[in-house]
Amino acid sequence: MAKPPAHTFTCSACGAVHKKWVGRCDACGGWNTIAEEAPLSAGPKALGAKGRAIPLTDLATQEAAPPRAPSGMEELDRVLGGGLVPASAILVGGDPGIGKSTLLLQAAASFARTGLKCMYISGEEAAAQVQMRAARLGLTDAPVILGTETNLRDILTTLDAERPALAVIDSIQTMWLDTVDSAPGSVSQVRAAAHELVTFAKRRGVAVVLVGHVTKEGQIAGPRVVEHMVDTVLYFEGERGHQFRILRAVKNRFGPADEIGVFEMTGMGLAQVTNPSALFLSDRDAPAPGSAVFAGIEGTRPVLTEIQALVAPSTLGTPRRTVVGIDSGRLSTILAVLEARCAIPFAGLDVFLNVAGGMRVSEPAADLAVAAALLSAREDVAIPPDMVLFGEISLSGALRPVTQTENRLKEASKLGFSQAALPARSKTGGGEGMRVREMADLTAFVGEMFGAG
Ligand code: TYD
Ligand code: MG
Repeated sequence: MAKPPAHTFTCSACGAVHKKWVGRCDACGGWNTIAEEAPLSAGPKALGAKGRAIPLTDLATQEAAPPRAPSGMEELDRVLGGGLVPASAILVGGDPGIGKSTLLLQAAASFARTGLKCMYISGEEAAAQVQMRAARLGLTDAPVILGTETNLRDILTTLDAERPALAVIDSIQTMWLDTVDSAPGSVSQVRAAAHELVTFAKRRGVAVVLVGHVTKEGQIAGPRVVEHMVDTVLYFEGERGHQFRILRAVKNRFGPADEIGVFEMTGMGLAQVTNPSALFLSDRDAPAPGSAVFAGIEGTRPVLTEIQALVAPSTLGTPRRTVVGIDSGRLSTILAVLEARCAIPFAGLDVFLNVAGGMRVSEPAADLAVAAALLSAREDVAIPPDMVLFGEISLSGALRPVTQTENRLKEASKLGFSQAALPARSKTGGGEGMRVREMADLTAFVGEMFGAG
């Protein structure tokens, strides 16, 4: 008699399959990421069994570009690539309590007010809780259909009967299928539930938004495969203590990735921030040492952010390096380049680096602004308050031009800045009425800004 297929153990972070449970995944090194999984089916069919031929087509017989339904929330529509694509599957991830449910209730209401049939299914909150939130957000008049359920079979039956244009499932971790024998939130349940919902979206022409919780390491809890299954992955992020929230497209089959939408969490829900630069710079007054303004690009939009540094003598054997909003590896590299190429040591000094307003900066173009903030803090010399900086620092100490120089300068000029420090050979266009100070390398920058260094 054939043995029933054994249960397997799958890593929820990287998807590696193990024969038995282990505390640490050998494939990705993650701790406590292994979860038990029931076999998907009763075993493979005999190899001789033939499948059916699939229907084939060619590239030319595609329909026109998908029509998009804008929600009227401009920040959301931009991140979606211009509006909601029918029958698409979207995953929205974020830390618990960051505001995902608030955002999606507001989005569902916005879509519903444009005449789209919208359904909001909550598996986490009771109907009364969602209704109370809707009352607080002033959304009670929006024609959103509300359901509270976690059984996916019932949800799919309901969706099939109602056929909304958009269904929000809050959250994918609470959904369970009775065909999969493990607890809700487990790898197999999340994967199976996401698969059912995505397949349903494609087959029935219903756009689905899946809400997902993010683990401490910043991954959407559950297997990575969920991210591969959907068309669009959005992250809702922000610092707890700050009111700014950023919706970031990390994957989008229907639009540019890396696009961001900026919101502000208020007592009345999320408000859109249409001019983020002004917001991130709003509390700058007198010129202060340790502060540099970086002219960055987020998606298709230029955004100015303030980089702040503090450098102080350390009492520790290994000085502190504390970073918020920038990759700490990047800081180490810049410190090493300053030390090796410009002979400016940071040994024995604690370094604190922070991006103001809870923004995250991942562009290498921020290097020059980071170096400027560090030097300004170390030398106690303020950078001119009307200056923006950008440019990538290479390991040799050379400054490398970055993309979209003109757009960065234009935004800076619009916000009242009048000079810019940037790499030599940048394509500045007309310079946008700015005093452009081009520098070939970090040594030249140090010389020009801080005397001999
Ligand atoms: P929520 O949308 O429930 O977060 P998530 O679904 O990501 O877990 O948001 C919870 C937080 O948002 C909570 O701490 C309170 C805050 N909040 C406001 O500040 N203003 C509001 O109008 C609402 C609805 C929530
Ligand atoms: Mg929630």
